Amino acid sequence: MRIKRLLFILIGINLFYSCAEKSLIIKKPHLIPAPSNLEVKSGQFTLNKNTTINYDDDFAASAKFLRTYLSKSFPLKINNEFTSNVISFNKDSLISNVEGYKIEITPKLITVHASSDRGAFYAVQTIRQLLPAKLENGSFQDKQIILPCLNIEDEPQFEYRGMHLDVARHMYSVDFIKKYIDALALLKMNTFHWHLTDDQGWRIEIKKYPELNTIGSYRKETLIGHYNDQPHQFDGKRYGGFYTQDQIKEIVQYALDRKITIIPEIEMPGHSQAVIATYPKLGCDIKPVEVATKWGVFEEIFCTKEATFTFLEEVLDEVIQLFPSEYIHIGGDEAPKTRWKTCPDCQRRMKQEGLKNEQELQSYFITRIEKYLNDKGRQIIGWDEILEGGLAPNATVMSWRGTEGAITAAKEKHNVIMTPTSHCYFDYYQSDNENEPLSIGGFLPLEKVYHFNPLPDELSKQEKQYIIGAQGNVWSEYMPTESQVEYMAFPRLLAMSEVVWSKEESKDYNDFISRLEHFNERLKILEIKFANHLYEVEGEMVARDNKLNYSLKTLTENKIIRFSLDGREPTINSEIYGHPIPITEKTTIKAAVFDTKSQLGQTFSETINFHKAVGKKVSLNVAPHKAYSGSGKEGLVNGIAGSDTRYGDKEWLGFWGDDLEIEIDLDEITKINSISTRFYNANGQWIYSPQQVIVKFSEDSSIKEKMHSGLVENRDSLISNFNIKFEDLSASKLILTIPGFGMIPEGKQGAGNKSWTFIDEIVIE
Ligand code: ACM
Ligand code: ZN
Repeated sequence: MRIKRLLFILIGINLFYSCAEKSLIIKKPHLIPAPSNLEVKSGQFTLNKNTTINYDDDFAASAKFLRTYLSKSFPLKINNEFTSNVISFNKDSLISNVEGYKIEITPKLITVHASSDRGAFYAVQTIRQLLPAKLENGSFQDKQIILPCLNIEDEPQFEYRGMHLDVARHMYSVDFIKKYIDALALLKMNTFHWHLTDDQGWRIEIKKYPELNTIGSYRKETLIGHYNDQPHQFDGKRYGGFYTQDQIKEIVQYALDRKITIIPEIEMPGHSQAVIATYPKLGCDIKPVEVATKWGVFEEIFCTKEATFTFLEEVLDEVIQLFPSEYIHIGGDEAPKTRWKTCPDCQRRMKQEGLKNEQELQSYFITRIEKYLNDKGRQIIGWDEILEGGLAPNATVMSWRGTEGAITAAKEKHNVIMTPTSHCYFDYYQSDNENEPLSIGGFLPLEKVYHFNPLPDELSKQEKQYIIGAQGNVWSEYMPTESQVEYMAFPRLLAMSEVVWSKEESKDYNDFISRLEHFNERLKILEIKFANHLYEVEGEMVARDNKLNYSLKTLTENKIIRFSLDGREPTINSEIYGHPIPITEKTTIKAAVFDTKSQLGQTFSETINFHKAVGKKVSLNVAPHKAYSGSGKEGLVNGIAGSDTRYGDKEWLGFWGDDLEIEIDLDEITKINSISTRFYNANGQWIYSPQQVIVKFSEDSSIKEKMHSGLVENRDSLISNFNIKFEDLSASKLILTIPGFGMIPEGKQGAGNKSWTFIDEIVIE
């Protein structure tokens, strides 16, 4: 944020009470997302019971929003004269971005300028954030608020700023959906992607097909624990429900009043088992199936027979009556073609239409639905699988399997929304604390979301214009309660709001963290149960002058890290961390953040296994995938093991479809007793451990053909192991060759996609 700081000499004290006047003085704004330009000036504006409001008719909605918001503490009367102590909304057609706005605060006036009410609405959200959080729930008691004079000029970076919520795997109340929408509005997000149908439940009332709601909206029970826990166990409790059309209309209007478009998602041809459980004739196999009771990808998908299109068109007729959005999301992801390959109806369709394979049949399916919706004046969005077999002519692509889909679609001049799993899946773990609530897996800390750049480097400036924005996704398999949704969505949603709204030059992670620390007060008052990992320690191995050191940091200002090296818990009396800690032997570091009185966050613990390869030179035939490059290749030999439960942490390196060759140079001839490493094996996330590792050694610079190979073990577990022992072996250099698992075969999770390889520390003893 470009802030003229001359008035901020009083850093740290941003807000304090002046008791004599019963007024609250705001010193420094803490806005999220960061505005394009904020300039604090000298002078003050006082908001009190005499403050009035004045607005151009075009801004009636936003002015009303502000009046309602302030009504309990400051009932703003309408004033048509421009005197003083006025909040004034003025039309400025020179503001070219319809979502852009300016705010000018002078001692007499707060003036909002915008060219449309959308811009004025975002100005109101900024004013809301300039004011104390207690106004959110009407608990503000003081007589007046003193605001600094300032100028803000602001507009969004992207036109599509979305958040998604899956209500199929678990469902949430109407009040909760409204609360979610409220939070999106506060953060200047403009799209709510409502994932309404999936294998585990159909959640939208369809009057023409009432059985969708009596049968398809309910599952007989739900998986307990994690999908990877075997054998699967179920809770035996019927689960489900749906949103009535009246409820949906109410929510759509509620969102529109907050400048939020709701894009409904009706999944096809895959993720449709709840429909096929209701109407078996819409599947390829007439055999009955039940609404799914566990997670994953299912082979029962819509058949391409005519009856399916009649059904979907009639469903979509009702959907478009309810949702005025230009876009309808038609899914398109994870549709195994197994049934289509043997179905006479589907094979006949392929012949009739001259389609070469089942991918082209999927493309036929999507294109036909697109045409139906285009004829009704709507556009489709689909997950990036809709690229396979040929993209429907006008489709927008939501790129989730990395960024390849985005790149292909943008080069084909199709609009793209970025939501790669690596940076946008808020169902992944956000901390490596072992006591985080159960999640699907992966690791997506706040910082990684914050640093997401929706514009892939591979695209030219021209092509980048097709990237219309990004969104965070909240898949709800492991979120049975509303407070769990909040825990997973916040604060990552705040980081995402800055990704999509703020200009690159306005972004600064440390500054964001300091604003977030203040924003958390607002979240508390809004009763949003956010995750707070601000007071945790982060550690990192750093090489300096050929020596290894371990450095610690915490994000927030004015805090102290205390640590121990003897295995004991850090206390208020432990040593204060000042400089990186030299590592020369096996060491366990424990550390925590303290203020002057007590420990604030959780205790951090790291063990460094000082084995023979630690700190040695390592090279790789391919770079790790950029979304999973962790501590870099040096992380393979830094003495630190990856997490047992989060494959995306900085110690696991991820490769997508590559065979690996890893060379480690030990500097001198060294006796080697064993080599071991670990591979992640989360098939639901398409991570498959390799089958074997081949190791070659040399005693000098030329690798002699001393070759050993070993099988990877525990390939049914979440973590697979490779361990090979030697009786009498010395070498100065070694090369590990690791063929990847390759393409994922039919019948396995992620079939038809390249598998991922995730490798941990290579330990040489
Ligand atoms: C998805 O996560 N299957 C879009
Ligand atoms: Zn079929």
